[in-house]
Amino acid sequence: MHHPAPGLSESPFLLAARGEPVPHTPVWFMRQAGRSLPEYRAIREGVAMLDACMDPALVTEITLQPVRRYGVDAAIFFSDIVLPLKAVGVDLDIKPGVGPVVAQPVRTLEDVAAIPDLEPGHVPFITEAVGSLVSELGATPLIGFAGAPFTVASYLVEGGPSKDHALTKAMMFGAPDVWDALMRKIADISAAYLEVQVAAGASAVQLFDSWAGALTPADYRDLVMPHSARVLARAGGLGVPRIHFGVGTTNLLAMMGEAGADVVGVDWRTPLADALPLVGDRVVQGNLDPTLVFAPTDVMLARAAEVLDAGRAAKGHVFNLGHGVIPATDPDQLARLTDFVHEHSGRG
Ligand code: CP3
Repeated sequence: MHHPAPGLSESPFLLAARGEPVPHTPVWFMRQAGRSLPEYRAIREGVAMLDACMDPALVTEITLQPVRRYGVDAAIFFSDIVLPLKAVGVDLDIKPGVGPVVAQPVRTLEDVAAIPDLEPGHVPFITEAVGSLVSELGATPLIGFAGAPFTVASYLVEGGPSKDHALTKAMMFGAPDVWDALMRKIADISAAYLEVQVAAGASAVQLFDSWAGALTPADYRDLVMPHSARVLARAGGLGVPRIHFGVGTTNLLAMMGEAGADVVGVDWRTPLADALPLVGDRVVQGNLDPTLVFAPTDVMLARAAEVLDAGRAAKGHVFNLGHGVIPATDPDQLARLTDFVHEHSGRG
C-alpha cells in the first residue's frame, strides 16, 4: 500500500472536490497531456498509443509533462478508456487521428460472454505507473479514470468512432438482453480498473461518459444510468471523490449527479450558472469552451472570469475546459489560463 504525501489531502483540488473552502479555485484540463505539447509529440515519436499506455516509465513522464509546464492542481493518469479492454484481450487498436478501432465488433450474447472480467493481474503496468506517479507527484493529486458503460459500448458495438451511435442504440432498443449483459460486463471492467488505480494511490476518479449526450433523458435513465451508477457505487467504496462527465448533457446533468457523483463535470454548452440548480448539493467541474484558447488572450481570460464567477455560487468548483484540450492549442494559452484561474480566485 502507498502512504499519501503530506499536504495531499489538503490540496486545493481535493478540498474543492469535498466541498471545503479553498485557497484558490483548482484547475486542470481534460486531455492536458497529449498532442498540444511538443514534449509529448517528441516522446511519442515512433511509439504506438497503446504501447505508450502499457509502458510505466512513458506513462509517468507523459502524465507529469503538463503538471510541470502549467502547475495545474491535478494530474490525470495517461491512458485511454479502451485500455482495460485491450488488457483483458479484446483485439483493438487506437489509430492516430481516428481513435479506438475494434477488430470484431460485439453484437451477440456470445460476443459479450467472450470478454473476460478484469483482474489486477491483467494490468500490472497500471499499478506500477500509478505507484511511480504518486511518489513523483507528492502533494499534487492524481485523477484515475475509466470509461462509462455507454461510451465504451459505443466503441465495442460500432467497431470504431461513430457520429450517431446507430448500431449501439439499435442493440439498446432491439436486443435488451444483449445490451444488459454488455453494459454489466463493461461496468464491472471499468469499476475494477478504477479499483486498481485507487489501490495504487490515485486520489480521485473520473468516469467519462463522453457520448451520453446522444441519449434522450428517458433512455439514459432506464437503459444507461443504472450501469453507470453501479460503477460509481463501487468507486464510492474506495473513499475518493468521484467525478462524472459527459458531453452535450444539459438534459442529463441532474441524473448524472444522482448516479453517484460527488463532482459533476459540465461540458461547455451549458452555462455553469444553469448547471448549478441541476446538480443539487454537488461540486461542479468545468467548463470553458475549449476553442476559447484560439481567441485573443484577453477574450479567453474574460470568459474564464465569467466561469469562475458562476462557480462561486456552487458547493465547490473545479475549473476545467468543457471538453478536452484541442490538439492545435497553444500551450502558452493554457499556462496563462492556469495562472489567471489561480490569481482571479485567490483569497490573498
Ligand atoms: O490527458 C488526459 O486527459 C489523459 C489521457 C486520456 C486519453 N484518452 C489519451 C488519448 C483520456 C482521459 C482519454 C479518455 C478517452 N478516450 C475518452 C473520454 C474523454 C473525451 O475526450 O471525451 C474517449 C471518448 C476516448 C476514446 C479516444 N481515444 C478518442 C476519441 C481518441 C482520439 C482520436 C484522435 O486521435 O483524435 C483516442 C486516442 C487518444 N487517447 C489520444 C490520447 C492522447 C490521441 C492518440 C495519440 O496521441 O496518438
